[in-house]
Amino acid sequence: MKQKDRIIITIDGPAGVGKSTVARMLARRLDAVFLDTGAMYRAVTLAAVEHGIDPADTSKAQTLFDLCRFEFRSENETTKVFIDGQDKTAAIRDPKITEQIKYIASAPSLRGKLVQMQQDFAAGCRRIVTEGRDQGTVAFPDANVKFFITADAEERARRRHRDLTVAGKDISLEAVFAQQQARDASDENRVVGPLKPAEDAVMIDATIPTAEQIVDKMETIVRKRLRAGKN
Ligand code: C5P
Repeated sequence: MKQKDRIIITIDGPAGVGKSTVARMLARRLDAVFLDTGAMYRAVTLAAVEHGIDPADTSKAQTLFDLCRFEFRSENETTKVFIDGQDKTAAIRDPKITEQIKYIASAPSLRGKLVQMQQDFAAGCRRIVTEGRDQGTVAFPDANVKFFITADAEERARRRHRDLTVAGKDISLEAVFAQQQARDASDENRVVGPLKPAEDAVMIDATIPTAEQIVDKMETIVRKRLRAGKN
């Protein structure tokens, strides 16, 4: 499908800001496919760990990447992850994996391959809502609408802690907060694809409003922008 026939909405922002929740809801309202690009960085990190490779050794991780078969499928508003045919959708969420993603996320050649995978995935979608850190800046600079979501750091940690607890993970709020701060610093400071808003991104503060209120605002902006684009 040609770029001009597709609708691409990007949502970027730091860890725990609720990007996946609002991206999923917005995708549902727009009848679009939802893509969670963090799942890709998680999958490559998990593959390394499962093969006994230290993710910090990015040259070995890259060799492994070329040998593994990664598949990302959108099913029931979730980005399902398969490595060599095995469903790893739950395993990639383990906090031990989360802690180690920074190495893969900072490796320029691996980022290049994952961005290509994201673009290939989008090429097969009529409408897509994709979320991550560099979707509006690197992966889809020509997106129809770009959002960048921020929220108070303590509030973000509380939300992530609650989600992890609901998912049965045993981790303290303090540990989640520390991990989040380290992840933000690493995401913001890497040379390639750092976490930052695109110049033309719509900024949204998610500290106080509910997900429903945020999505209402996003949907209004998207529909207005798409209508304007048709004239
Ligand atoms: O979004 P999520 O928390 O699952 O992302 C996990 C990690 O993957 C992030 O902390 C970031 O380091 C990396 N990531 C990235 N670029 C993206 C999406 C995620 O570097 N587009």
